[in-house]
Amino acid sequence: MANIVITGANRGIGLELAKIYKERGDTVIAAVRKSSDALDALEVDVHSDVDVTDGDKVLKFKRDLGDITVDTLINNSGILTSEDMLDMDYDRMRRQFEVNTLGPLRVTHLLSQLMARGSKVGIISSRVGSMTDNGGGGNYGYRISKAAVNMAGKNLSIDLEPRGIALFLLHPGYVATEMVNFAGPTPPEVSAKGLIERMDTLTIEQTGSFWHAEGYELPW
Ligand SMILES: NC(=O)c1ccc[n+]([C@@H]2O[C@H](COP(=O)([O-])OP(=O)(O)OC[C@H]3O[C@@H](n4cnc5c(N)ncnc54)[C@H](OP(=O)(O)O)[C@@H]3O)[C@@H](O)[C@H]2O)c1
Repeated sequence: MANIVITGANRGIGLELAKIYKERGDTVIAAVRKSSDALDALEVDVHSDVDVTDGDKVLKFKRDLGDITVDTLINNSGILTSEDMLDMDYDRMRRQFEVNTLGPLRVTHLLSQLMARGSKVGIISSRVGSMTDNGGGGNYGYRISKAAVNMAGKNLSIDLEPRGIALFLLHPGYVATEMVNFAGPTPPEVSAKGLIERMDTLTIEQTGSFWHAEGYELPW
């Protein structure tokens, strides 16, 4: 039975991750800004008021965990707003950088103090942050923030490897959640299953790599 920390587990992909880990008998620690009826129904360990952009709140969360070992951390929280050539809103872009880039960096940095050899970190990034894969343009803040979190994760993987902690950047697919107005073709439970398979099967030898939930590696 492993201790699994998931950020943004009140809805969407994070909620489905929590469900699957709980069903298989792991100890789920859900870090959320605000819980939901669906999350409460899971009867997992819920920590509220954890805003990943707020250093004091993340530090309090880390302290509240006490001296447990975090076996798996999944940085799932994220936001999407769309900026394009007709609407370059730099405040919205800055906000995405705070949540999508600095959030996972902050949470991983602090919680790594509770990790041990064999612990694993997943960062739910997006292939929208891939340079090679960008054929569409637009979505300035989201693309930039996800490209930047890929670098944050790669960097963390190098710094955590000597301690035997592995880190993976993961793309969940185009998933039917509130973020995309439930438009994606992939149900969140299918995405969550794939993400967990990646977390289970990827090893420290593959640390710092970027994967689709469906099981193939993605280009930076
Ligand atoms: N859906 C897709 O097609 C897709 C594709 C590629 C990547 N992703 C990524 O997958 C991850 C999960 O997204 P989703 O599709 O499940 O979207 P979602 O349903 O909108 O869920 C987003 C989650 O992030 C949380 N969050 C937002 N701001 C936060 C903050 N400041 N501090 C802590 N938590 C915060 C939300 O909590 P609140 O309820 O408190 O707002 C919510 O739990 C994100 O990183 C997203 O970028 C999704």
